[in-house]
Amino acid sequence: MTKTKRIAIFASGSGSNAQRIIEHFNENKEAEVAIILSNRPDAFVLERADNHEIPTHVFDREEFYRTDRIVTLLQNLQIDLVVLAGFLWLIPQNLLEAFPRRIINIHPALLPKYGGKGMYGDFVHRAVMDAGETESGITIHYVNEVYDSGDIIYQAHFKIEPDDNLDMIRYKAQQLEHLHYPRIIQKLVAGSGQ
Ligand code: GAR
Repeated sequence: MTKTKRIAIFASGSGSNAQRIIEHFNENKEAEVAIILSNRPDAFVLERADNHEIPTHVFDREEFYRTDRIVTLLQNLQIDLVVLAGFLWLIPQNLLEAFPRRIINIHPALLPKYGGKGMYGDFVHRAVMDAGETESGITIHYVNEVYDSGDIIYQAHFKIEPDDNLDMIRYKAQQLEHLHYPRIIQKLVAGSGQ
């Protein structure tokens, strides 16, 4: 039998994507969420992790950017794939080098449009709405040293109707994220050969 692949999730907020990923791999035993990391001690994602008895680690800027502690932690846990799910800090070089092409992110728009520093969550949806776009979507991509610019793995689109408000646009994006992120992660860990 092949080894169960191990996923680490970084999240700063509510963690609805993290939750979907946890649930997905409770059903599909090819992979498991081994740890959830957050830069915010009050992030709701940590409560979700506790509810599923998943270990958590909270860190600050000093630990993330000036030490190798997170890299060592992930290596000790034998992590196969690092998944960003609503995590907003740039990934430091030591982590990128330790997990080449094994760190992915989800973004709630069709990159390269509406990406970059400060473009997250409702800032993205509002920019899409204000620009009068008739469609938007989600992007799953590899992470590199520049915000939202790594190679694209998968995109899904949705239509924006003339009377769609911010809530509707957010809802449509979230539905697509929840549907596709766990599925794409499963494909990636299946192909990682580790
Ligand atoms: C998601 O919509 C994700 O695409 C977005 O944060 C949300 C997190 O929601 N990420 C970004 O905007 C990154 N630039 P969640 O905490 O409910 O999973």
